[in-house]
Amino acid sequence: TYVVTESCIKCKYTDCVDVCPVDCFREGPNFLVIDPDECIDCTLCVAECPAEAIFSEDDLPADQKQCVALNAELSKVWKPIVERKDPLPDADEWVGVKDKLKYLER
Ligand code: SF4
Ligand code: F3S
Repeated sequence: TYVVTESCIKCKYTDCVDVCPVDCFREGPNFLVIDPDECIDCTLCVAECPAEAIFSEDDLPADQKQCVALNAELSKVWKPIVERKDPLPDADEWVGVKDKLKYLER
């Protein structure tokens, strides 16, 4: 399965949503997650993300391993997002910033 990592937080560009053939993205206030039960490993979303936030579960950076559980947990409570929308207002200032997990809004 594919996993959204903390690079998405406070950016939420949503380009990923438009290419997903199975609509498995779920939306929170400042982060998206992938429903691991729905993702078919097509890989299309990876190249679309301007924040390079999406990785295969098998290929996650060591400091992002907790995102597997986070995507699984939040995908059960957040609603589907199926169309791209405007990114968060300060997205371009937050792209590339490290340690954003503390800013996650649930
Ligand atoms: Fe959707 Fe494919 Fe990305 Fe999985 S890998 S979230 S199926 S676009
Ligand atoms: Fe987030 Fe990248 Fe999608 S910033 S909303 S994972 S395009």
